[in-house]
Amino acid sequence: MRTMMRLDAEAAQESATQADAGFLWDFWYPAARSSEIRGQKLVTAMLLEVPLVLGRTSEGKVFAMRDSCPHRGIPLSYGRLDGKVVECCYHGWRFDACSGQCVEIPSLSSQDKLKVERIFAGHFPCEERDGYVWVYMSSRGRTAADNSPGTKLPEMIPGAPALTVFGDKYKITHLSCELPSHIDHGIIGLMDPAHGPFVHQSWFWRKRGSIHEKAKQFEPIPNGFRMSPHSPSTNSAPYQLLKKITGEPVTTTIDFVLPNIRTEIDQSGKMWFSSRATVTPVRRDLCRIDFVAAWNLFFLPVAIFRAFGKIFLRQDQETMIQQAEGLKHNPRLMLIDDADRPAKWYFALKANLIESRRTGAPMVHPLDGPVTLRWRS
Ligand code: FES
Ligand SMILES: [Fe+2]
Repeated sequence: MRTMMRLDAEAAQESATQADAGFLWDFWYPAARSSEIRGQKLVTAMLLEVPLVLGRTSEGKVFAMRDSCPHRGIPLSYGRLDGKVVECCYHGWRFDACSGQCVEIPSLSSQDKLKVERIFAGHFPCEERDGYVWVYMSSRGRTAADNSPGTKLPEMIPGAPALTVFGDKYKITHLSCELPSHIDHGIIGLMDPAHGPFVHQSWFWRKRGSIHEKAKQFEPIPNGFRMSPHSPSTNSAPYQLLKKITGEPVTTTIDFVLPNIRTEIDQSGKMWFSSRATVTPVRRDLCRIDFVAAWNLFFLPVAIFRAFGKIFLRQDQETMIQQAEGLKHNPRLMLIDDADRPAKWYFALKANLIESRRTGAPMVHPLDGPVTLRWRS
């Protein structure tokens, strides 16, 4: 069978190259917005340098396959979707969209002994949540060589991440932007407290002159860390407004968890605002921020929030474009205490997770208890 012809050395080399890209496998990543996947359309996406084809069966279930026909490698996205089967445009092999299993090879004669059902197109677990199509990038589905049925059995995997909401009446909106950066730079940019007053200087947020010393307590949580519930920066106008309206203190909790998720929950009396940003690796030199926010603040219309949100993201994006220019020349970089300590924790979490997966030993957490960090911003 063709899938057997691939040399082991070739496969080993491919996984070695992929290992170097610094991606974390066996996690859910958002691949597309739910609204993009409709009708009989096949939509392409890329996650962790794996080309994907996404679609929706006639029953409404989303699926994700490797965008490569196991016969000769042509992207399956050039083919067509017929209810629940994807047909390759080259020789018409047909694959069940949800399992990747081959269901028909039109060229086979009555004499052929080939077991069609043993052929699989690469496919990945896929779920819809919060308006995104999430794909579980399993390390088993990582190489194109892994098309054998044995590696395709469903694994025990957790559900895709869900945004925390309080009650069922709220507004929700999504924003995204691409960064020409490796995932690690995208993430440490996301958790960096010291760039705010410089990159996000705006009349509506804060001024450079408002920089002051802060002390924030952090605590370990599984696969990440939490900025313990606290009253947010008094120099940010939106928080001041919220406090004025409810007459109650505002508390903010910010979490970071591997592989790429930052969540923030702000609460004041019955009012709440919940957001999640994920930085998803597309290729080693490209990542994408997907931002979703939900709130029940009656005074905050979606259009206004989006206008401000876009300005923020644009400011980060412009900075990352400029940084990418500098990083082309492989400069030496620094992480300083305490403002860059979250970035150090991120790198340690990532390294310790990889190590624990390698050895099977429990993961060592870089924080052994609560710790207070101090910086000026
Ligand atoms: S390449 Fe897809 S059927 Fe031949
Ligand atoms: Fe920023």
